[in-house]
Amino acid sequence: MQLGQPVTAIGSIPRSIQGDCAWHGKEIQGSSSWIVHWTPEQITELEAAAAHFSKTGIALENITPESFPLQKLKPFIADVLHTLLQGRGFVMLRGLPIKEWGIEKAACIYMGIGRHMGSLRSSNGKGHLLGHVRDQGAKVEAGARFYQTNKKLDYHTDSADIVGLLCLQKAKEGGESFIASSMALYNEMVKRRPDLIPAMFTPYPTDRRGEVPEGRDPWFEIPIFNWYQGQLSCVYLRHYIEEAQTRFPNAPRLSQEQIEVMDLIDTILQEPGFALQMAFEPGDIQLLHNHQILHSRNDFHNWPEPERARHLLRLWIAPKTGRPLPEYFASRWGSVTPGDRGGIIVPGTKLSVELSV
Ligand SMILES: [Fe+2]
Repeated sequence: MQLGQPVTAIGSIPRSIQGDCAWHGKEIQGSSSWIVHWTPEQITELEAAAAHFSKTGIALENITPESFPLQKLKPFIADVLHTLLQGRGFVMLRGLPIKEWGIEKAACIYMGIGRHMGSLRSSNGKGHLLGHVRDQGAKVEAGARFYQTNKKLDYHTDSADIVGLLCLQKAKEGGESFIASSMALYNEMVKRRPDLIPAMFTPYPTDRRGEVPEGRDPWFEIPIFNWYQGQLSCVYLRHYIEEAQTRFPNAPRLSQEQIEVMDLIDTILQEPGFALQMAFEPGDIQLLHNHQILHSRNDFHNWPEPERARHLLRLWIAPKTGRPLPEYFASRWGSVTPGDRGGIIVPGTKLSVELSV
């Protein structure tokens, strides 16, 4: 990858992406077609799989489709995966009775569903397969990652094919989730500023937040838009791109055009009707395909009692049927092999599951 240059021949990239993946919030905000309710029969099957798993004595980090067996739910999960990978890129699964289950059973069923979609990836340098998205009083200015705070999160993608969020508890107020199609975003950017296309496909140095794999720089370099084998993929986290400029004098400098690309992205994403807003209810699982969906959330305020704090469980999933990705993704994703890529692995990482923060 040559610095300061687009990584793909610009002439070969389409100027518009068509299909279900290129949607606008205003087209679907009023409909509930993206919310899927679990049926009582499905819940019973999930509970039976959890009961089977607990009898095996296997640790949660080693859960597999065999140790969490599903039969009737297999085609359902395949449909969900198809919508994520080939369709509009997001699904909301509603109505898991998590209050009845308690955290251990909820985590088992959530991870079991995820494991039927692909391998589970570590979402931090500690090797945690289940990420706790909860205000821990941490400060982004002091180097923390946003999921440890109660701060508004700007639009970004995560470093795995699929991200899941299971809501255990919602905030007293705020914390709404916003998602947007990065495919529709690309179409709009090309329409407004075709002159910026080369800068969209040029590498952006991005801060790793201290979670540095062996032999790598503390930043990685990747374009915001990536065209590979007939598919467009987006990678974006502006705050960490800007942090790399501030913290690492050796990181390549952004060009004026690259800054204009980020300004244009942020402008379009804030325009009314572009994104889709959703409020989490306890028991909801939101699943997103990071290559084609950007996500953000509002600031939130918790109830005074710590046990009522907003609490989501994050899963990063790598399906075997994931799209082909260019080799340079391995700098962040460890590998580009579908089913075995994404997540954060640093020296000494041992995969584990923590049921509390
Ligand atoms: Fe995220």
